[in-house]
Amino acid sequence: MVYIMTITTIGIIGTGNMGSAMMKGLINKGIIKASKINAFDVNKALLDTQKAELGINTAFATNKELVQGSNLIIMAVKPQVLKEVLQEIAEDLATSKPMISIVTGVPMAYYEKIAGKKFPLARCMPNTPALVNAGVTAVAFNEFAQADFKADSKKILGSIGNVHEVPEKYLDAVTGLSGSGPAYVFYFLEGLIDGGVKMGLPRDLARALVLDTVAGSVKLVQETNKHPMVLKDQVTTPGGTTVEGLQVLEDGNFRGILIKAVDAAAKKSKVLSDNIMQQ
Ligand SMILES: NC(=O)c1ccc[n+]([C@@H]2O[C@H](COP(=O)([O-])OP(=O)(O)OC[C@H]3O[C@@H](n4cnc5c(N)ncnc54)[C@H](OP(=O)(O)O)[C@@H]3O)[C@@H](O)[C@H]2O)c1
Repeated sequence: MVYIMTITTIGIIGTGNMGSAMMKGLINKGIIKASKINAFDVNKALLDTQKAELGINTAFATNKELVQGSNLIIMAVKPQVLKEVLQEIAEDLATSKPMISIVTGVPMAYYEKIAGKKFPLARCMPNTPALVNAGVTAVAFNEFAQADFKADSKKILGSIGNVHEVPEKYLDAVTGLSGSGPAYVFYFLEGLIDGGVKMGLPRDLARALVLDTVAGSVKLVQETNKHPMVLKDQVTTPGGTTVEGLQVLEDGNFRGILIKAVDAAAKKSKVLSDNIMQQ
C-alpha cells in the first residue's frame, strides 16, 4: 500500500549539506513534489542555485514567512543559530505546525524553553551517509507528536536512509555511535588501505579491495544475520594467516578502543546538551 503523507507542504530552514540532502532525497524518492518544498536560507546565492536545480519554492523573505506558508518545518541550521531562528518563528509554531529538527545535540526541552510553547517535535540524529541517501537516523518524538506526524516524519527521514524511533534518552549514545560513526569507519578504511600500500599494493587497488571487503562483510552480516564473531571464525583457519592479523588487533585492544571511542563521544554529547540547556 502506498503511504500518503498527511501534510502538503514542507518548509526547510537551512539548505546546507543536510538540508539539501533532505530536499534531494524527498524529490528523488517522489515523497513530495519539488514545488511543495519551501526553503529559506541566509545564503541567497545557494537558494537561487537550488531553486534552479531542483525547482523548489524559495519565495520567502524570512524564516517567519516560510513557517507561515508551510505545514511541517524541517530545522536544518547549525546549533549556534538555532536560538535566534526559534525566537524568530516562535509565534507561528503551533500544534498544527509540527517540526522535525536535525540539529545535533539540542534537547527537546530547549525548543520549548526558547519558543515559550509546546508543539509537536521530532528530534533526529542523522549521519553523513545521508548525503548519498545511505544514512541512518534515530528519531525521538515529544509527547505532542501524534501518529500522523510520526508516520510523516519517518517517511520524510526515510528519504535519506533507514530510520529508528528511540526514546530521547538514547540520543547521546546514538550520537557517539552512528552520528560520529562514519568518522571511525573512514579512519578504519584509511588504515587498511595504508596496510595494503605498505605491503606493496598500488593505492587505487588497495582502496578498491578495502571498500569491497568492508561493503561485502557488512552485507554478509546483514544477509546471514549471523553474529559477526561466527563469521570471523569462518575466515580464521587454524594456524593460518588471519589469526596472525587478529592477534595484532587483540594486542592493540582494538575492540576495547572502539568501545572507548563510542563512550567518549556519547559522554561529550551529553555535556554539550547539558550546556545548551543552561544558555
Ligand atoms: N553534517 C553532519 O555530519 C550532520 C550530521 C547530523 C546532523 N547534523 C546537523 O544538521 C544541521 C545542519 O548541518 P549542515 O552540515 O547541513 O550545516 P550547513 O551546511 O552549515 O547548513 C546550514 C545552513 O543554514 C544556513 N543558515 C545560517 N543561519 C541561518 C538562519 N538564521 N536562517 C536560515 N538559514 C541559516 C547556513 O548559511 P551560512 O553557511 O551562510 O551560515 C547554511 O547554509 C546542524 O545542526 C548539524 O548539527 C549534521
